[in-house]
Amino acid sequence: MNQEKRQIINPEPKTEDRFDHTLRPRFLSEVIGQSQVKENLVILIKAANQRGEALDHVLFYGPPGLGKTTLAHVLANEMHVNIKVTAGPAIERSGDLAAILTNLHESDVLFIDEIHRLGKTVEEVLYPAMEEYSLDIIIGKGPSARSIRLKLPRFTVIGATTRLALLSSPLRARFGAVYRLDYYDLHAMKQIVERAAGLLGITVEKEGVEEVSRRARGTPRVALRLLRRVRDYAEVRADGILTRGVTLEAMELLSIDELGLDEIDRMVLSTIINKYDGGPVGLSTIAASISEEPDTIMDVVEPYLLQLGFLGRTAQGRVATKLAYEHMRVFYREKPSQPSLI
Ligand SMILES: Nc1ncnc2c1ncn2[C@@H]1O[C@H](COP(=O)(O)OP(=O)(O)OP(=O)(O)O)[C@@H](O)[C@H]1O
Ligand SMILES: [Mg+2]
Repeated sequence: MNQEKRQIINPEPKTEDRFDHTLRPRFLSEVIGQSQVKENLVILIKAANQRGEALDHVLFYGPPGLGKTTLAHVLANEMHVNIKVTAGPAIERSGDLAAILTNLHESDVLFIDEIHRLGKTVEEVLYPAMEEYSLDIIIGKGPSARSIRLKLPRFTVIGATTRLALLSSPLRARFGAVYRLDYYDLHAMKQIVERAAGLLGITVEKEGVEEVSRRARGTPRVALRLLRRVRDYAEVRADGILTRGVTLEAMELLSIDELGLDEIDRMVLSTIINKYDGGPVGLSTIAASISEEPDTIMDVVEPYLLQLGFLGRTAQGRVATKLAYEHMRVFYREKPSQPSLI
């Protein structure tokens, strides 16, 4: 599989996305879509401000590239407080966390990305810190060791995770507000692409925006990446303007079809349909058949195919639906006994 092509629709961040932060909405009013989450956040912020308190601890979860990091920064901006950014794997020992916590000021936000990757001992330091704003430190060793309790300022933890199920339940229980981010609809995607094109100074036609948005898998990060690739194409092969025609040619070259599926998505569908007669077939078998990592299939390929209604999950494995057959242009025949979906 061509790595370059593969990377384009992968919603995991990569180095060229580092410029994305310039495109990040800074305040709630600039955040497009996710209206229910936004409405909840407005209430959360107003209530905290009215009481003159720090914001409750907030957890964002959902697939990569949908705006968890963006919303964490937006919340800090809206509250006019500082934000300290860290990530689960970066806090190796409880001492690392203690150092971070003791440097926080009143009402500061501590953003912990990939919070499901915090170690057990670190988590145990975090619990009392989140709940009672206190930090227990052990001084000395052996029989003379004693524990002292430090008071911490009232701060807010904002956690982000793509894998809610991996979060321990005591940790999850310490978040007063938990929000799930979902894929964006076409209307929101178009607004996101148009806004980004404006900020990047790209001349677009409405139809060009529409074609990019359709293929972005409901994911802003993918949309921004596609937009950059189409701009490159438009500048090299055309006059720099994103028309429908130029966009379609660029997508063709990237092997991205009209629903935003790339070669690997189509290989997964074709494996289930052609090799396993529509399934059910286990995820690891699919991964092995096309020499891909099961994790990639699970995090990147499967959620979008499920969302399109192309895949179903059964106790025996994945099945391809009638819609998937139609998209792959394979004749669908009803099976006598369909395994029930779970
Ligand atoms: N609602 C939105 N409106 C406009 N742009 C957005 C929105 N959400 C995200 N973006 C853009 O998409 C990019 C990716 O978003 P972000 O980095 O917040 O995703 P994430 O959910 O934190 O992903 P990950 O799970 O990989 O950390 C951002 O750089 C931002 O420019
Ligand atoms: Mg992020």
